[in-house]
Amino acid sequence: MGLVTGACLADFGNPVTCVDQDEAKIERLSRREMPFFEPGLPELVTRNLNEGRLRFSSDLPTALKGSRVVFITLGTPPRHDGSADTRAIFEVAKLIAQNLDGYKLVVQKSTAPVGTARAVWRTMKRAARRGAGIDVASNPEFLREGSAIETFMHPDRVVIGAETKRAADLLRKIYAPLFLIETPTVVTTLETAELIKYAANAFLATKISFINEIANLCEAVGADVQVVAKAMGMDRRVGSKFLHAGPGYGGSCFPKDTQALVAFARSQGLRARVVEATIAANQHQIVRMVQKIVRAIGTPRGKRVGVLGLSFKPNTDDVREAPALTIVKGLRRRGVKVTAYDPVAMPRAREMLGRVTFADDVYQAARGADALAIVTEWNAFRNLNLARLRRLMRRPVLCDLRNIYDPEEVEAAGLRYVGVGRGRPGRWDG
Ligand code: UDX
Repeated sequence: MGLVTGACLADFGNPVTCVDQDEAKIERLSRREMPFFEPGLPELVTRNLNEGRLRFSSDLPTALKGSRVVFITLGTPPRHDGSADTRAIFEVAKLIAQNLDGYKLVVQKSTAPVGTARAVWRTMKRAARRGAGIDVASNPEFLREGSAIETFMHPDRVVIGAETKRAADLLRKIYAPLFLIETPTVVTTLETAELIKYAANAFLATKISFINEIANLCEAVGADVQVVAKAMGMDRRVGSKFLHAGPGYGGSCFPKDTQALVAFARSQGLRARVVEATIAANQHQIVRMVQKIVRAIGTPRGKRVGVLGLSFKPNTDDVREAPALTIVKGLRRRGVKVTAYDPVAMPRAREMLGRVTFADDVYQAARGADALAIVTEWNAFRNLNLARLRRLMRRPVLCDLRNIYDPEEVEAAGLRYVGVGRGRPGRWDG
């Protein structure tokens, strides 16, 4: 989030210095080497470095000199109870307060529990010289991995939590290019802004768990979740987005933010029961996928399964909380030999999976397999040569955990089709 925000703000014409204490990372970035895969990011970073608006540094005090606005975009990893660990935010806030050379607006952009921005403000006031000018704002980020630049440059809305006119005006000025394209803005209090982020993410996660539950029901009664979701989405009050049934949500946000919301509610003496159920349903969904594949191959021991897609979604190499990793581990625990392939996430997955065999391409993953499971819907998997797969596999079974294939087309090519929530695929005459 920090790198994308920095590069995009530089692209808006602002001079930006991105700071990280990891000197090796800063050095690599200065050489234009990206620390992760994100479409369009290398070009954006390179352009802004070349044009002199973007710099990388591991020297915070120097970077702070002359910067009027400081964005904090730190990780808030989950503690054992699911609550977000915000220590890094406060450490950095103290450092900023000790290095003030004039008014600073500190924008708390990391996803952190409600109340963090105000606590940061208090901490900074205590750590700074008396009378130093500090404002703290909350500016939650809604960017999506794999389309991070697009979602930063064309967001559905900008949320600004600011309680002084100066802070709100400064943030409005920074986001001025977005207002030119008529992006709606919500200016509100710190706590409201912080809660918006958790509420939005938990709601989207709930939508996914909900449709996954309907998918399971579809399997039981012989209905097609694709058609159910489509017709549900036609009701504008429901909306069609995030109603795609699959192996469960993953990534660096939904799993962590739903847990944090539940932990935060408990700390207030409340229960977030809907979100608790969303989390439980998601965990169950991932386990169900292992059972689904095992049912498709029969006795698991000694069987081979090809797994296509390891990242938690396409267009990223991020494997954090990726359903694919849990599925691979679950299959292996049952004695299945797994050969996995992903266009970009294999190096990261290798660190997490240990002894799994990786293939050089889709067809190598399919060779001799008793089933081929599509776990992440990379575009490269959408138009596979089904006849070739059938010839290569020991038993031609396609477990399409993202419902990207037409079951009739797959079966016509001589493969058995197993989808999610497609009890009896419904015809769509829309
Ligand atoms: C999410 C939010 O969308 C974004 O606004 C926030 O800033 C960060 O968290 P991200 O985690 O990058 O973004 O990916 P997203 O596209 O939201 O997908 C999250 C997970 O949900 C993925 O595992 C995806 O496969 C899954 N998903 C999404 C579904 O299973 N079905 C859907 O219909 C949509």
